[in-house]
Amino acid sequence: TDHYCVFGNPIGHSKSPIIHAAFARQTGEDIDYVTQLAPLDDFTGAVRDFIARGGKGANVTVPFKEEAFRLATRRTERAELAGAVNTLSFCDGEIIGDNTDGFGLLHDIETNLDTPVAGKRILMLGAGGAARGAIGPLLDAGALSLTVANRTVARATELAARFAALGAVSASSYDDLAGQQFDIVIDATSSSLSDAMPALPTGLFAAGSLAYTMMYGRPDMPFCRFAQEQGAARIAQGLGMLVEQAAEAFFVWRGVRPQGKPVMELLLAAK
Ligand code: ATR
Repeated sequence: TDHYCVFGNPIGHSKSPIIHAAFARQTGEDIDYVTQLAPLDDFTGAVRDFIARGGKGANVTVPFKEEAFRLATRRTERAELAGAVNTLSFCDGEIIGDNTDGFGLLHDIETNLDTPVAGKRILMLGAGGAARGAIGPLLDAGALSLTVANRTVARATELAARFAALGAVSASSYDDLAGQQFDIVIDATSSSLSDAMPALPTGLFAAGSLAYTMMYGRPDMPFCRFAQEQGAARIAQGLGMLVEQAAEAFFVWRGVRPQGKPVMELLLAAK
């Protein structure tokens, strides 16, 4: 049995052990996967301890993704672009840092939600770590345009500049979005944690558009309510992104790609 875990603080409510146990059953891979509470002031010590105990790999969640980025001795290109690491592999004394979050979002939108990104006008709300991890994969997938809008506009401007070489990415305030329309609107802010939403103008949702929030498990999020009132054709929460980033991490570690959809159904049924 090979050992894996997810580091976070807090970590108690993580669904990752359930997801990876389901993937292991699905693929016949002999792994176990547990949650691991890392002290806020000693993430590195917790990782080194897990490696010493024979750990093969780990996921990393809030608030350690930037620290994991720095701890990695080697990083994949998508981790470099994201500026954060959610997947670690321990191999021959190396700590390899990867980031599967953006892939997870893209895969959920394209495969589970049947919405090709190529040629679409995308609006990304928020300019923190969650937004940053998603921009590279969305541009790579052929988005027609990607507008990053944020309350603090300077952060959006910074993000847009960072990704300028990858595609048509621009920055905006929320107010300046007025009069524009988008095919995919992604809420990557943490506003719903406080039952709020970005101060958006009306009329942003194009006919047939998809509204996607990276958050999940919160009934009645203001962003989802707004999207519905504004005529978004489809509204999705981030459970699929969670499952698909896990599937990609599983693939990174094991070389086998599990199916996300049955595991999403399992999680929804378990609620
Ligand atoms: P994460 O890694 O989850 O992205 P973060 O880096 O703290 O976390 O970023 C949080 C994002 O949510 C930011 O874009 C933040 O906007 P600011 O940069 O202007 O602070 C956004 N956010 C949080 N609460 C918000 C609210 N009530 N309304 C609008 N945006 C909010």
